[in-house]
Amino acid sequence: MKRSVVRGVGTALPRRIMRNADFEGMVETSDEWIVQRTGIRQRHVASDDETTASLGEAAARNALAAAGLTPDDIDLIVLATSTPNHTFPATAVEIQERLGMRHGFAFDQQAVCSGFVYAITTADLYIRGGLAKRVLVIGSETFSRILDWSDRTTCVLFGDGAGAVVLEAQEGEGTVADRGVLASSLRSDGTHKEKLYVDGGPSTTGTVGHLRMQGREVFKHAVAMITDVVEATFTAGGITADDLDWFVPHQANKRIIDASAKKLGIAEEKVVTTVHLHGNTSAASVPLALGCAVADGRIKKGDLVLLEAMGGGFTWGAVLVRW
Ligand code: ACO
Repeated sequence: MKRSVVRGVGTALPRRIMRNADFEGMVETSDEWIVQRTGIRQRHVASDDETTASLGEAAARNALAAAGLTPDDIDLIVLATSTPNHTFPATAVEIQERLGMRHGFAFDQQAVCSGFVYAITTADLYIRGGLAKRVLVIGSETFSRILDWSDRTTCVLFGDGAGAVVLEAQEGEGTVADRGVLASSLRSDGTHKEKLYVDGGPSTTGTVGHLRMQGREVFKHAVAMITDVVEATFTAGGITADDLDWFVPHQANKRIIDASAKKLGIAEEKVVTTVHLHGNTSAASVPLALGCAVADGRIKKGDLVLLEAMGGGFTWGAVLVRW
């Protein structure tokens, strides 16, 4: 039975770090408020020469290096992003070009903060369907470009960055002991659109627009939606929370992460948290957290890892991976 095994992970962050105190002269806020409500202490913000494509390319190159592979070995690039360089062509194709790839194919996938979870699931299906052998799955975002920097309820929450994994087709026994993607569950519900959206777009206003969020409303739904989809993924994978080695949630808010882990019965020491360093980087948040936990030696080959995310749409989902 074909499995999509993780061969390498890589990350990339903009040079510039913006700390909570840096907002104090811009909007009415404080380091104390931001830390207490969100757990965020700093985020990286792209400079003019840094884009979703350049950050995605850098993360992809780091993932390829970790995997001991080159762009020649890749036949598909799936980029999860809501902040593409252009309306079209797809930023994935731009990354393909930056990597010097003239073979294979590439496309973007848009599910906001759940983008990476959707993209891993998509890549896994291409691999299991025999359409690709090795896939670069990238989450790259420059949310700083769609923030209303005068709106304190949103501008302090987000950051820029990118993360990538290389998935490779390998044969498994078809059991939970196999390395690779073991189970996925995806959901969306457009009735929640007004709670988190961008008020622009090519077919409506003809502008890029700004992110708008009813934070309290998002918060209200987040824990229930996340725990529901994670439990469905546990069931699909034939495991329980106790079997898990690592829980790698979307990094939007420490309170949501802690409440979800508690409700799921996942021990605190199994939760990977990077929101204090990166803020909410949307589709990049899960691969950035993965990159940190692999680099510092926490996630090791054979570990059972649960990825989850929830975001605009609403979209939400979870993926179970034997690392
Ligand atoms: N600094 C100081 N005060 C602030 C700030 C700020 N940056 N932002 C809001 N406030 C004020 C509000 O105006 C409000 O004041 P009021 O009581 O006088 O009206 C007060 O703080 C409390 O505001 P709440 O919105 O009730 O604060 P809450 O505790 O809910 O925290 C937050 C806000 C952090 C946004 C929280 O609701 C949250 O994290 N929501 C979820 C966001 C999320 O997870 N998004 C994920 C998806 S993102 C994606 O998909 C792209």
